Amino acid sequence: MKKSAWGKTADGAAISLFTLTSGRIEVSITDFGAHLVAVRTPDRRGRVADIALGFASAEGYLKTPNAYLGSLVGRYANRIARGHFAIDGRDYQIPINNGPNALHGGPVGFDRYLWKAEEAPNGVELTHVSPDGDMGFPGTMTARVRYTLEGDTLRLDYAATTDKPTIVNLTNHVYFNLRGDDDGDILGHVVQLNADRFTPVNGEQIPTGEIASVAGTPLDFRTPHAIGERIDEDYDQLRLCRGYDHNFVVNGPAGSLRQAARVSEPESGRTMTVETTEPGFQLYTGNFLNGTLTGRHGKPYGPRTGFCIETQQFPDAPHHANFPSTVLRPGETLRSTTTFRFGTE
Ligand code: GLA
Repeated sequence: MKKSAWGKTADGAAISLFTLTSGRIEVSITDFGAHLVAVRTPDRRGRVADIALGFASAEGYLKTPNAYLGSLVGRYANRIARGHFAIDGRDYQIPINNGPNALHGGPVGFDRYLWKAEEAPNGVELTHVSPDGDMGFPGTMTARVRYTLEGDTLRLDYAATTDKPTIVNLTNHVYFNLRGDDDGDILGHVVQLNADRFTPVNGEQIPTGEIASVAGTPLDFRTPHAIGERIDEDYDQLRLCRGYDHNFVVNGPAGSLRQAARVSEPESGRTMTVETTEPGFQLYTGNFLNGTLTGRHGKPYGPRTGFCIETQQFPDAPHHANFPSTVLRPGETLRSTTTFRFGTE
């Protein structure tokens, strides 16, 4: 693990960049927002490129709230309808920041704070203490994410505790482009998902509560399909989200590490396999990237130049009794693990 100075926050605190290396794979993480900044891997001919969208310097992350490039998202990834929820009969309100709804923990989420960093075996462990009432959420929450690079696998271990009943849903919002982050769109990437079901959304991208089969829809990736093959089909779920932006239910028992997705990119030959203990993941195809974010190469990230597999609890779970509960109580520790394995074919 290599640690280097990476600038300062507005109030003068030192920001660091941590770089982990294993074979020809190199990943960089910053303690500002616990962002995954870079993932460098070779293609099938051995040429190394950065395959995670990111900014060139800490300044990019500091001055661009809600860009979510590699952000650690908390306290609640994805949407909560109207920003409102209740626990044990008490009501709570998060400031809304996505139409009438709250997205990714509200306007000032975990990605806006400097986390405390500690060295770990070929890794770094980052801790953030969110005070009681932060963004309207009850309870002092201690959130922890440990990034470890083991062989070809980047592993993220999450933990969270609270001193009052609260809700929690942590993810990393990293956008990938297996061609390289300055090399066009992701429509040719071939995706296979270990998911028979997904949670359909309404016109505000809030789950309807239904857990639907993917069979016969353009969301059926149980056999491999290119992202671009069906993305513009006249299908209501795709129209509503301008492409893929859906929570898929991972087959197999939540709590055990099982495959969520496998992605390959035919020209570079790069592959990525995602495993998680989480019940779901958001396949998001960068539909809202609109060229306003300038990446590390000084070029704008346009629509569909990155895709995300955001492993997670189900969006808006507090409003759906049939979704796995996201309530965390004092004395409990939330734990989850997600791994990204990189290769070529
Ligand atoms: C998630 C959401 C998307 C979008 C991105 C961030 O994937 O589901 O709708 O908001 O985050 O831009």
